[in-house]
Amino acid sequence: MRFKDQTIFVTGGAGFIGSAVIRHLLADTDARVVNIDKLTYAANLNSLPGAASNARYAFEMQCICQAPHLRRLFDTHEPDLVMHLAAESHVDRSIDGPAEFIHTNIVGTFTLLQESLRYWRGLSPQRRARFRLLHVSTDEVFGSLGEQGLFTETTPYAPNSPYSASKASSDHLVRAWRETYDLPTVLTNCSNNYGPYHFPEKLIPHMIIKGLAQELLPVYGDGKNIRDWLYVEDHAKALTLVLEHGRIGETYNVGGRNERTNLHVVETICDLLDQIAPSPRGPRRQMISFVSDRPGHDRRYAIDASKIEGELGWRALENFESGLAKTVRWFCDNRPWWQAIVDRGYNRSRIGLN
Ligand code: NAD
Ligand code: DAU
Repeated sequence: MRFKDQTIFVTGGAGFIGSAVIRHLLADTDARVVNIDKLTYAANLNSLPGAASNARYAFEMQCICQAPHLRRLFDTHEPDLVMHLAAESHVDRSIDGPAEFIHTNIVGTFTLLQESLRYWRGLSPQRRARFRLLHVSTDEVFGSLGEQGLFTETTPYAPNSPYSASKASSDHLVRAWRETYDLPTVLTNCSNNYGPYHFPEKLIPHMIIKGLAQELLPVYGDGKNIRDWLYVEDHAKALTLVLEHGRIGETYNVGGRNERTNLHVVETICDLLDQIAPSPRGPRRQMISFVSDRPGHDRRYAIDASKIEGELGWRALENFESGLAKTVRWFCDNRPWWQAIVDRGYNRSRIGLN
């Protein structure tokens, strides 16, 4: 019985990773889940099929920057655990307009920490001992790697984008609330996720959707930037494991040991789409178009996941090639999910390509 009679707050539970976490918690554990989400452009409650009718699930449309509302939620639902995923998450948007990233990622995390602390201090000793807050962060806080080496838990922070700087700030706040006020926190830094329900502005879904429409596929710079890909369901399992068994005050790096260049990823998507739905215009690789680079574009990310593997026995189960094939198939089979987002429109102004 995992999380029996326990209530877990999940902030950002209508987003890509948050929804995967909630699907996992509802399917594979006994937890009660409260999804706290402001429903920004990136949110989608359709990513939680069946959740609304589950007696163990509740949705609260709230902004994490609003202290009085957060306070009411803590006092109403009395959570045992908090998983904090709410954030502005897209690097390109942070370049166009950093203000929202500062607000949600830094002020929002600060507000959540303050309200968690107030609530935690009021708990009975038994419940106080059980409480913990998991802060979900990114490998981008470490900056960019050269050709060699991996990010470990002791790699110095060197964020290069407004997004990663805001996430680095939030990580530091979490650490400080632990060191100064004893709030029981644990932190994860994960590499690039991919999989079903991924918002169409990100590399993999963007290329699948453009590829299906037989449109140009915009690859930034020379396409040789490297990302370390992790299937989102493997990440969701890692997060629940860290919540359950991670040591308080510790950081865990999470990654799938799947380094690929962006060009390789896009070419593979082209080939998969050609097999599923051949294009009358010929092989989709011809549609790859090199466009101007992202300013401050980190060259390479790669995670050393040996701490979470060794301490908690976690392993990434999905191999990248099969995971990507599953993902391409999912987007082909679930057009209504993403078509509604595309029809609604979303801004990709920095690169001027929609
Ligand atoms: P996402 O953009 O898909 O979802 C973010 C969710 O947070 C959305 O549902 C949104 O409505 C909600 N949200 C935003 N601002 C809010 C606010 N002020 N109050 C309440 N809710 C708010 O993001 P994601 O890709 O699912 O990422 C989730 C978390 O994981 C983020 O903290 C991100 O930094 C981190 N992360 C993401 C990746 C990745 O590859 N996507 C990798 C490592 C870490
Ligand atoms: O590393 C973890 C991070 O991964 C998370 O913290 C972020 O929230 C998440 O968005 C992701 O950031 P990236 O910037 O790596 O993801 P994105 O999908 O935007 O881009 C992946 C790579 O592909 C990056 O090198 C930029 C490139 N790219 C992206 C897009 C959208 C392109 O070449 N063309 C594109 O159209």
